[in-house]
Amino acid sequence: MKAVRIHEFGGPEILRFEEIERPVPAADEILIKVYASGVNPVDWVVRNGGNDFLKPHLTLPMTLGWDAAGIVEETGSSVTGFKKGDEVYGIPNFPGNNGSYAEYCAAKASQFALKPKSISFNEASRVPLTALVAWNALFELGKLQAGQRVFIHGASGGVGSFAVQFAKAKGVYVIGSASAGNQEFLKQIGADEVIDYKTQKFEELLQDMDVVFDGSPLRDDNERLKGISILKNGGIFVSVNVDFPFSDEAKNALAKKNAKGELLYAQTHHFEWLTEIAQLIDEGKVKVIISKVYPLEQVAEAHKESETFHTRGKLILEVRKED
Ligand SMILES: NC(=O)c1ccc[n+]([C@@H]2O[C@H](COP(=O)([O-])OP(=O)(O)OC[C@H]3O[C@@H](n4cnc5c(N)ncnc54)[C@H](OP(=O)(O)O)[C@@H]3O)[C@@H](O)[C@H]2O)c1
Repeated sequence: MKAVRIHEFGGPEILRFEEIERPVPAADEILIKVYASGVNPVDWVVRNGGNDFLKPHLTLPMTLGWDAAGIVEETGSSVTGFKKGDEVYGIPNFPGNNGSYAEYCAAKASQFALKPKSISFNEASRVPLTALVAWNALFELGKLQAGQRVFIHGASGGVGSFAVQFAKAKGVYVIGSASAGNQEFLKQIGADEVIDYKTQKFEELLQDMDVVFDGSPLRDDNERLKGISILKNGGIFVSVNVDFPFSDEAKNALAKKNAKGELLYAQTHHFEWLTEIAQLIDEGKVKVIISKVYPLEQVAEAHKESETFHTRGKLILEVRKED
């Protein structure tokens, strides 16, 4: 089968389009005939050698890709929840070395769910990783409830655009930030208020937020302190950037507000969340936004675009055409 692999860490030029053996699923795995793979910033972070958090888990050679949509081709001997022919989506083996930039991938059945029926494989592959991150940030760590207010920084990207829609679907008042070209987009996906992070100072416009979710790629302590400053007493600050720990200053600022600071680790095992998210998508309450679809062969171009950190929604690699 064809796969995109790396044999060393480095720039987009190290991505190799290769012919390798089709994987055989272990007892608790399913073999997925992959139709599409999402492209996430973590893909090129790993390609570059990873960060402190990821480095100890990386092995070469590696097939990248941790967002898959496809059809179950085979099930391991102990798998009961899926059968051959099921259309599924999920996160294969994060951060393992047999990812979804391939015609087939074997992955733990527990990391997959039935894909939303109303969307294509390309669209479905946009969902799992960013959707689980957004869900975890808002509802597990942020404990957001209907009627509360959330500020989502970096609201137009892969993670942020789901966070806006999930919060709205649960009756939360949403304020999102993005650059000028994405202000209208944020309103279309349901933000109640929008802030242009380049020309407006959110820290002067907002206060008493129940939750601040930093879904932006910023690893900047001043920006984090601004986010903490707009929390209500007892509020919760959640950052998506697990590789950027809280400084002493940030911890003190949180303590002064009796607030909690949370760093978000990837969620790869919440089958039930993916099932609920599929339902929200099929009910039309959440839209799946793709900015561009690349054929698998053009993976290097997709990485270069993702590295700009200005993707609206998500980039997709189409592995095979849908019938
Ligand atoms: N912890 C985890 O498990 C996990 C999982 C997934 C992602 N992440 C991290 O989450 C972050 C976002 O990922 P993503 O997939 O959503 O990325 P993305 O699709 O590239 O989106 C990035 C977003 O950040 C905004 N942005 C860029 N520069 C900004 C700035 N200076 N201030 C405020 N916002 C800014 C962009 O808005 P405009 O285009 O409108 O400027 C865009 O909406 C990345 O740092 C990624 O590494 C962590």
